[in-house]
Amino acid sequence: MKVASLGLFITVVWSGYASAQHFKRLGTCPKLGCVFPPHLTDFFPGQLFDIRLEVHAPVNGSEAFNGGVPDEQFSFCIQQEDGPCQDVTEFFGLGSESQLETWTFSYFEDLFAQDADEPTIVNVASKAYRALSLDIPGNYTAKLSYYNGSETVAHWLVRESPKEAKAKNLLLFIGDGMTQSMITAARLIAHKSINGRYQSLMQMDQMEALGHQMTHSIDSFITDSANSATALYTGKKSSVNALNVYADSSANSFDDPKVESIAELFRRRTGGPVGMVSTAFITDATPAALCAHTRDRDQLAPIVFEYLNGAEGLNSSLSWPTSCEGPDVIFGGGAEQFIAGPGSPNGSDFYEAFQAKGYNVVYNNTELQATDNNTKTLGIFSISNMAKWLDRQVYPENLLNEKNSPTGDGTDATDQPGLKEMTLKAIDILQSRADEQGTGWFMMSEAASIDKMMHVLDYDRALGELLELDDTIRATLAHLEEIGQAENTLIVVTADHGHGFDVFGGADTKYLAAQTSDREKRSAVGVYQNSGLSGYTVEKDSLPNNDTIVIGAQGPNFPVTWDPRYVYAAGFAANPDHREGYAVNKSGPRLPATTPNAEDDNEVNPADQPDGFIVNGTLPIDQPQGVHSLTDVSVFASGPGAAAFRGVYNSIDIFFKIADALGLAANVSDCDS
Ligand SMILES: *[C@@H]1O[C@H](CO)[C@@H](O)[C@H](O)[C@H]1NC(C)=O
Ligand SMILES: *[C@@H]1O[C@H](CO)[C@@H](O)[C@H](O)[C@H]1NC(C)=O
Ligand SMILES: *[C@@H]1O[C@H](CO)[C@@H](O)[C@H](O)[C@H]1NC(C)=O
Ligand SMILES: *[C@@H]1O[C@H](CO)[C@@H](O)[C@H](O)[C@H]1NC(C)=O
Ligand SMILES: *[C@@H]1O[C@H](CO)[C@@H](O)[C@H](O)[C@H]1NC(C)=O
Ligand SMILES: *[C@@H]1O[C@H](CO)[C@@H](O)[C@H](O)[C@H]1NC(C)=O
Ligand SMILES: *[C@@H]1O[C@H](CO)[C@@H](O)[C@H](O)[C@H]1NC(C)=O
Ligand SMILES: *[C@@H]1O[C@H](CO)[C@@H](O)[C@H](O)[C@H]1NC(C)=O
Ligand SMILES: *[C@@H]1O[C@H](CO)[C@@H](O)[C@H](O)[C@H]1NC(C)=O
Ligand SMILES: *[C@@H]1O[C@H](CO)[C@@H](O)[C@H](O)[C@H]1NC(C)=O
Ligand SMILES: *[C@@H]1O[C@H](CO)[C@@H](O)[C@H](O)[C@H]1NC(C)=O
Ligand SMILES: [Zn+2]
Repeated sequence: MKVASLGLFITVVWSGYASAQHFKRLGTCPKLGCVFPPHLTDFFPGQLFDIRLEVHAPVNGSEAFNGGVPDEQFSFCIQQEDGPCQDVTEFFGLGSESQLETWTFSYFEDLFAQDADEPTIVNVASKAYRALSLDIPGNYTAKLSYYNGSETVAHWLVRESPKEAKAKNLLLFIGDGMTQSMITAARLIAHKSINGRYQSLMQMDQMEALGHQMTHSIDSFITDSANSATALYTGKKSSVNALNVYADSSANSFDDPKVESIAELFRRRTGGPVGMVSTAFITDATPAALCAHTRDRDQLAPIVFEYLNGAEGLNSSLSWPTSCEGPDVIFGGGAEQFIAGPGSPNGSDFYEAFQAKGYNVVYNNTELQATDNNTKTLGIFSISNMAKWLDRQVYPENLLNEKNSPTGDGTDATDQPGLKEMTLKAIDILQSRADEQGTGWFMMSEAASIDKMMHVLDYDRALGELLELDDTIRATLAHLEEIGQAENTLIVVTADHGHGFDVFGGADTKYLAAQTSDREKRSAVGVYQNSGLSGYTVEKDSLPNNDTIVIGAQGPNFPVTWDPRYVYAAGFAANPDHREGYAVNKSGPRLPATTPNAEDDNEVNPADQPDGFIVNGTLPIDQPQGVHSLTDVSVFASGPGAAAFRGVYNSIDIFFKIADALGLAANVSDCDS
């Protein structure tokens, strides 16, 4: 599949790159010779990957070398266990040597260089080898030799994997940005406690196995969702913004060395159906990493193109003979990439492009529930991110005047499904299609706006999303039981990274509003013995005023009210200047900081939390929102193979545990590489 306007997809990614305070010539490449996949990469037997080699010659700066002339005569060999180191073309039986590529890039060595606008210039010589695999478990050594005696050595391990599957179906729930402190806070507001003992629990609390995973990136200790989704789905650490590739230094964000994702591998090995469900725009990083490959997560149009046509469809000269082959289920927001216009991959109506490939297309919950179970289905329910649970269920007037209908007709998307409705329907479609083919199925379902609402310090909306995720897991377990698939389905629930959120007390919103100075307002916060008990779960008829009772939101597993007088008081480890009053924002998501003077100079938004007090930020003033944090995140699992998820391990191990449970090594030949 080729497309006329491929040129549109290429962007230079280096321009905005040096905005961090710790600058690197190229993450993952401390020497002047770079090998991707880098040192200490683990592979699943037979998993496809590209190799990219780079030799750098900095023209100036502290590493200036060889007059800025890169060695074009570098060599690269691979050694299996303690066998001979064979040239890469011989080792993989490649017909011909790859073509040499050359380019130049620049970066800043530190903040002083950036302030002075003195970039370091680097010339590069490179080669890439596409779509390779190592089938035989064991140790491999890859050696790049350059500049008359310099060497970069990478140790690679192909892990052993059982040949039998434990589970037929795999459902991976991702609470984007979800930490244990958020789960604890959600439990506090939604589950009744008597004398310090909960009378009911979160569904996550009741899963069979609990573990936790380390989320670090390959070249920074704080990750983003692209990078961490890459780790969860491919078993490879990568860089911020990268989807299923290692970040190389070339300008083209689609030629970076790729690795095969769990969804591609599952499809290639079993032929089974694949589903992606998210409350974000569907090209957002967590769903995108299932089926797309790019160094730049913001390439939204090409990402949709890859869903439909694979990475090879995007650029046929990059051999990549694996893809999701069009995921069987795609549910989420992000209509911009489908409506004919500038957001679509080639300007044309992409709903039609999916229909032409056999998809049913639905635009709202009514249509979703009525649609066939046995046809591939694209469900796009809004422009941009989907509505939040709190707005759908408690403050539905906030769905009006958004003009976000997925059809692009300028009306409001008022009939949006929630994560639960999307996930249950996705199961029916995947099950029906898997039955036809005699396979299992794979699905990822993401509660995306836990993260999005934590970023804007809208803790109530974030916890609403988290409770919706928990309710979805509960309903999923019941539904799988109903359709006889509980024993075939492994459910894994985890997050991709955290945010530095926690609850430290209670606050009396009435007293807080009545005080006139910021310092006095802070005495409304009660700590330790004055934190009180949850005001969110009290019996309905004991509330002083029926107006505050939220009909519809009430029910087991959700708060009875979202605006009690005595609220939880929560804070954030990394925040912009903002106002804090601990009160729910009834008119929509919070906007903590604004830029009245200059675009990168964020200040307190005076309209946010008007009864509150000013909290000065801890972040650079170009950051308008809270940012991700370092914490390990929890992993919960139930179903066949769940026991493997106990303990403490790295994010990449989740990929291997899932691939093991699904028995994806079953067809890999053991006798040649
Ligand atoms: C490197 O050379 C470029 C081009 O001459 C120049 O703009 C830049 O400031 C130099 N950088 C350093 C670190 O000297
Ligand atoms: C790989 O090498 C390490 C260290 O030399 C060794 O402990 C391990 O058993 C080897 N793994 C395999 C699968 O051969
Ligand atoms: C490598 O060795 C060759 C031949 O001895 C020499 O011409 C070349 O300058 C050397 N290159 C470097 C980078 O040292
Ligand atoms: C396709 O990939 C090749 C190899 O990296 C590159 O040279 C070419 O520019 C790419 N084409 C497009 C249209 O991106
Ligand atoms: C892998 O094995 C399964 C089950 O035996 C089979 O249905 C499938 O066709 C095989 N796939 C490949 C790529 O050989
Ligand atoms: C745009 O891409 C879609 C999907 O590949 C294709 O069906 C359609 O013909 C293309 N339209 C144009 C105008 O290129
Ligand atoms: C759902 O979408 C269909 C197709 O666009 C439309 O005809 C119908 O009125 C919508 N229903 C609701 C409840 O919005
Ligand atoms: C889809 O499958 C579910 C569960 O098996 C069933 O209840 C529902 O009626 C089916 N829907 C359609 C439209 O066939
Ligand atoms: C609250 O509503 C219930 C049922 O609608 C009613 O019986 C009761 O009197 C109301 N209580 C108050 C305090 O308004
Ligand atoms: C605290 O925040 C206010 C409002 O944004 C701002 O005017 C003030 O400069 C900040 N103080 C510091 C020390 O950054
Ligand atoms: C509440 O939400 C609205 C709509 O999103 C936003 O404009 C406003 O700044 C928020 N107000 C407060 C008090 O946070
Ligand atoms: Zn985030």
